[in-house]
Amino acid sequence: MNGARLPAGADGGEPLLRTCNVTKTFRADGVSVTAVRGVDISLGQGEFAAIMGPSGSGKSTLLHLLGGLERPTSGEIWLDGQRVDGLSQARWAMMRRRHIGFMFQFFNLVSNMTVADNVELAALMGGATRRQARERRVELLGDLGLSARADAAPARLSGGEQQRVALARALANRPSLLLADEPTGSLDSSGSQAVLRLLTRVHADGQAILLVTHDARVATAAERVISLFDGMVADDAALLPPLRPAAARPAAARLGSALPTVLRLRG
Ligand SMILES: Nc1ncnc2c1ncn2[C@@H]1O[C@H](COP(=O)(O)OP(=O)(O)OP(=O)(O)O)[C@@H](O)[C@H]1O
Ligand SMILES: [Mg+2]
Repeated sequence: MNGARLPAGADGGEPLLRTCNVTKTFRADGVSVTAVRGVDISLGQGEFAAIMGPSGSGKSTLLHLLGGLERPTSGEIWLDGQRVDGLSQARWAMMRRRHIGFMFQFFNLVSNMTVADNVELAALMGGATRRQARERRVELLGDLGLSARADAAPARLSGGEQQRVALARALANRPSLLLADEPTGSLDSSGSQAVLRLLTRVHADGQAILLVTHDARVATAAERVISLFDGMVADDAALLPPLRPAAARPAAARLGSALPTVLRLRG
């Protein structure tokens, strides 16, 4: 940590997360690919935003940069007022254990541990006692309809079940920021509903969420949709707050007003 402090935003409040002109170029075998090009985004404390965009537009790369899993080629990343893009891997690991839940696009569960241990380990690493870790695991697996699978090895689970375990693991340390990459990508509609209910509760508890999704139903649960195209922010728009039933309009209409044409046409 270099100790620098982020100047307060225009509204006087300090965002939980802010990037300044972040770029990421991968170089391998003489070929370079710029996956993220000059991204400026910010996320308030407790805010819930969705990142959408076509395949290859840099969504996962951006999330990895924000979680410290990749280092930016240039630009700045600030987390809770501290500049973090230059942190060592060890400092990032500590930051993630305490403050960030990261859910990978391809799950990354520990294969030689049971589902229960995968979730409990994350809670223990975040500072929970054994008893707290067990309680948290029971609660999360229950919420996600996975209680019966607690003693299974991840390899025995379906893709959708593994995906929900990955989400339970990411939430085990009650992170102030959840970064989730396609949390419903492998789920049927009842699995997606369980995930959405949990995310809504996490958000109501004051935890911030930044998730990548291709699913317009998931995006409508967010307060904001950030659209990436070719590594750049093409649109960053607030969604209308949820409407009362009497005044309700179809969710697609609400989302449609905030999404760029390219995304509206996809749905
Ligand atoms: N480790 C890497 N090395 C080289 N190129 C990479 C690497 N990771 C990503 N890329 C490239 O960066 C670009 C953005 O990839 P990224 O995975 O961020 O896209 P995405 O928006 O998450 O796509 P999807 O919706 O398919 O998950 C792609 O062209 C990809 O091939
Ligand atoms: Mg991706």
